[in-house]
Amino acid sequence: MTAIKVLLVILGCVIFIHQILARIVRRFWHFPAPAFIAHVLDSKFRRRMQPPDTLIARAGITEGMKLLDLGCGSGAFAIPFARAVGENGTVYALDIQAAMLKQLVTKLARPENSGVTNIKLIRAGAHNLPFADNSLDAVVMTTVLQEIPDPLRALGETKRVLREGGILAVTELFPDPDYPLKSTTMKIGQRAGFTLNEASGNFWNYTVKFTKQQSPLPGSVLSA
Ligand SMILES: C[S@@+](CC[C@H](N)C(=O)[O-])C[C@H]1O[C@@H](n2cnc3c(N)ncnc32)[C@H](O)[C@@H]1O
Repeated sequence: MTAIKVLLVILGCVIFIHQILARIVRRFWHFPAPAFIAHVLDSKFRRRMQPPDTLIARAGITEGMKLLDLGCGSGAFAIPFARAVGENGTVYALDIQAAMLKQLVTKLARPENSGVTNIKLIRAGAHNLPFADNSLDAVVMTTVLQEIPDPLRALGETKRVLREGGILAVTELFPDPDYPLKSTTMKIGQRAGFTLNEASGNFWNYTVKFTKQQSPLPGSVLSA
């Protein structure tokens, strides 16, 4: 019992020191998560911590959606999302790093993914999304938002490409060095003009779901 307690204390200290150092580095040196961390992103441990079905349910992803997986990385969720939207839907798997998208290409070539034909890979940055205004049903960002140099600008772009009533789901996981508190994510989404819909999960692993609010109808401004 004492040995377990000692181990837990050591683990706690390691996580604490990792958080402090990583956050100091991230403050001065902003760079996308290196492609080799795909081993962690695609690990069984990560899938257990963040089961794709849970994210699908929290985000409200349904059949037929046109969904953008922004900062898809190696596609830990892009393939389950593609299955959830089905053949009438499309997943746009977008990332700034070719090395990440290459890993998704390799995964899609595996026999078990041969039926997944509704993913379109796009190499682009979150500050300038290559989509028309109001063209998507949902945008999902999983452990991405705070990694983007200007998150507010990325959210502005997200809002532009979402249709009225479209969904933005932001998921974060501790101990990602860019992990923000749930309250921070709620505030930044609202600052970008989204309507807060639902926050689910716990401290370690949460999803905040927003919607792009309907524009007021022309002429519906109340007169004094
Ligand atoms: C921590 S990984 C998460 C990947 C994936 N969403 C997941 O949960 O497995 C963050 C990803 O965001 C991408 N990224 C970072 N900044 C970006 C930007 N400005 N535009 C697009 N993607 C970006 C990185 O290349 C990286 O693949």
